[in-house]
Amino acid sequence: MTRIVYVNGSFLPENEATVSIFDRGFLFADGVYEVTSVLDGKLIDFASHATRLARSLTELDMRSPIEMDDLLAVHRELVRANDIEEGLVYLQITRGAASDRDFAYPSEDTPPTIVLFTQNKPGLADSPMAKVGIKVISIEDQRWGRRDIKTVQLLYPSMGKMMAKAAGCDDAWMVENGAVTEGTSNNAYIVKNGKIITRQLSNNILHGITRAAVLRFAKEAQMEVEERAFTVLEVQDADEAFFTSASAFVMPVVEIDGVVIGSGAPGSVSLRLREIYLEESLKTAI
Ligand code: PDD
Repeated sequence: MTRIVYVNGSFLPENEATVSIFDRGFLFADGVYEVTSVLDGKLIDFASHATRLARSLTELDMRSPIEMDDLLAVHRELVRANDIEEGLVYLQITRGAASDRDFAYPSEDTPPTIVLFTQNKPGLADSPMAKVGIKVISIEDQRWGRRDIKTVQLLYPSMGKMMAKAAGCDDAWMVENGAVTEGTSNNAYIVKNGKIITRQLSNNILHGITRAAVLRFAKEAQMEVEERAFTVLEVQDADEAFFTSASAFVMPVVEIDGVVIGSGAPGSVSLRLREIYLEESLKTAI
């Protein structure tokens, strides 16, 4: 089955979809994105992703090429057309294609580019990785200072992933001024004496949609939550560690820089949060 994608108002087979070589997303990484997960053929936390998208656009003085109501319809149509039961919908909006390469933004009447596509991931909820946990390395955080904006400047996170792979690990947690900021594409947590600890929100990290939901569910389940920065030494000394993202939900982390965390197996808090997250977020999926 050929994947159907959405480009600037049209649903097309992926091999017929094109974007200009002058697109600012391509030339300047001048674009923002969202990744929304699909479970049981429904979108998880769509409204929160749409709200963060609107914020990212505003922060970059970029206009939206689409009304938020229409955005939901496009997501749904792609899920339907591609028969996605479990997977992801990727959305990207860029400042569009100026007629030539120029650092200055193009004129206001330049239409933004919008692209959406699906990724089919059967078994996403029942991930084997979540049963054994993943291994991370720590690396220096060398990204720009506005990590709260979900831009498509993902070269350093990609480099981090490759550094992790080279070290025989799955991901990298980035460190700035001695404290963990976040993973290459996820928010980072430790659990110590039953308390869930994750970095407080600022411009230094992405305000994860899964993070917000997980912290809300944790508090509702009377679990203790503390929002503060933590060090790699604290991770090594923690009872448990995990990360959250729309593409992995709650994922246990069992090793950092070669040091085993806790028992070396996914911890009970991490596994419970994963279960609660999957159960609760499905209730409001649309
Ligand atoms: N990444 N931090 C970073 C740097 C991220 O790229 C992501 C998401 C998150 C988690 O945010 P959320 O819970 O809203 O997915 C945190 C997506 C999944 C990606 O780039 O594929």
